[in-house]
Amino acid sequence: MWRALTITSNSIRNYPIGFFDSGVGGLTVLKQLKEILPYEDYLYFGDTKNMPYGEKSKEQLVEFSGKIFKFFEKKGVKAVVMACNTTSATTYDILKNDFNFKIYPIIQSVTKLFAELPVKKIGVFATHATINSHAYKIGINRINPEIEVIEHACPEWVKIVEEKLEDKTESIAAIKYDLNSVLKENPEKIILGCTHYPYLIDILKQFAPEDIFINPAEEFAKFIKSDLEKAGLLADKTTGSQNFYVSGSPQKFINAASIFYEIKHLPEQIILN
Ligand code: DGL
Repeated sequence: MWRALTITSNSIRNYPIGFFDSGVGGLTVLKQLKEILPYEDYLYFGDTKNMPYGEKSKEQLVEFSGKIFKFFEKKGVKAVVMACNTTSATTYDILKNDFNFKIYPIIQSVTKLFAELPVKKIGVFATHATINSHAYKIGINRINPEIEVIEHACPEWVKIVEEKLEDKTESIAAIKYDLNSVLKENPEKIILGCTHYPYLIDILKQFAPEDIFINPAEEFAKFIKSDLEKAGLLADKTTGSQNFYVSGSPQKFINAASIFYEIKHLPEQIILN
């Protein structure tokens, strides 16, 4: 019995870790985790056919997330990282008990840390669906009701990243407009509450000090590592791998990712059912 259990937990620790997002955004999290856990096998799913998630209904998002979890279940993962704020805000609570592996939702994993920041006012940029859920505001104020949370939806930003429109004058104007709407409230920090937004840091830092922006991916990756460690689920090997899957165009995914993350092999296109 003891032997059987030991063999099982030893093999589970070397199972892959699934990641998903609507597109290339979740790579901002994968990049951080890969740096601190290089010897894991990562499977990344970009649901580019159904993007943008931020404009979808809760019912649609539950359907997409459920199908992606089933895909990872068949792949035999030890954990799935919801590297997408929108699904963390809208579908995690509904699906969290339906699967046999660990699920890490980005918002719920980091809000405690933001609630402990020595600030009085914090801004949040996110998609419509995340802002409408008030997930960051609720999560932060549950721990620290003194912090004023200013929420602002930036519906154009995901498209700017996925379509590589960063250099267009209209894109820069849209980003500046959203930024000014929050800056005029004088927040001490601004959370980039959509995994796509860190791709735009070079533009954002032209109009505000870079250190005002918080990329939750850094703290999120540390949280995942520590939780896997506590559960005895860190891989105990000295090689790691990464495989990419998309529901839309594989080449478009590589192109959109390129300013941030180099993907050497064409992702496999998957039709989810
Ligand atoms: N990157 C995702 C997020 O963190 C979703 C973006 C979208 O497809 O609207 O919310």
